[in-house]
Amino acid sequence: MNNMRNKRELSLKKFVLSNYIKIKLSSAIELGCGSGKDALWLSKKIGKKILAIDKEIKKNNDNKKIINVEADYFDVKKIAKYIKADNRYDLIYSSYSLCFNDKEQIINVLPFYFKKIKNGGTFYLLDFTSDEEIVSKRTNLWEIWFFDLIKKYFDHFEIRTKKVFEKEHGHTHRIFELVCFNPS
Ligand SMILES: C[S@@+](CC[C@H](N)C(=O)[O-])C[C@H]1O[C@@H](n2cnc3c(N)ncnc32)[C@H](O)[C@@H]1O
Repeated sequence: MNNMRNKRELSLKKFVLSNYIKIKLSSAIELGCGSGKDALWLSKKIGKKILAIDKEIKKNNDNKKIINVEADYFDVKKIAKYIKADNRYDLIYSSYSLCFNDKEQIINVLPFYFKKIKNGGTFYLLDFTSDEEIVSKRTNLWEIWFFDLIKKYFDHFEIRTKKVFEKEHGHTHRIFELVCFNPS
C-alpha cells in the first residue's frame, strides 16, 4: 500500500509505467474497451495480443496486436471462442465499465476472468467510489460484497482513491484503483 501513496494519477498507463508489481506484460484482456485508447497504448508495451472486449466497439483498428471482440463480456460462451481453454493472461483490466452491470452477473461471471489470470498476473480495475455523484446509475462496487469476491480469488489487493477532474466534460469523478494479484 505504501508504494501506492504517491502523487501519480490513477490510470492504467501510470500503473503499467510505475512497474509497481513488476508485471511481465505479454498478454492482456480489457473488459469494456470503449474507444480502445487504453488497448492501443498498451499494445505498444506488450509482447503478445490484447483481447479488447466491448458491447459496442467504437473504432475498429488495424493493429495486429489487438483483437477487438464486440460482445457482452459476461457472455462467456461467446468470449470462450477467443480464449483457448488453457490460455492464461498477465493482465486483465477494466476502466469505468464493470459498474454498469448487475451485481449478480459480476459475482457469478467475473470469476471466469479471475481464473484466466496467470500466477503472478494482475487484475486491475478503475471504478467509482460510493461518493461519486455524476455517475448515479450504476452498481456500487465500493462495497463489502465486491471486496469479499476479490478476497476469494486473490491473496493480495491494494486500493487507492482519488478525485479526478475530467477535462472533456468539465466535472470531477471520485474513483478508486484496485490492483489484485497472487504471488508467482
Ligand atoms: C464509460 S465507458 C469506458 C470505456 C473505456 N474503458 C474508457 O476508460 O474510456 C464503459 C464501456 O464499457 C462497456 N461495457 C459495459 N458493460 C459491458 C459488458 N457487460 N460487456 C461489454 N462491454 C461493456 C460499454 O459499452 C462502454 O463502452
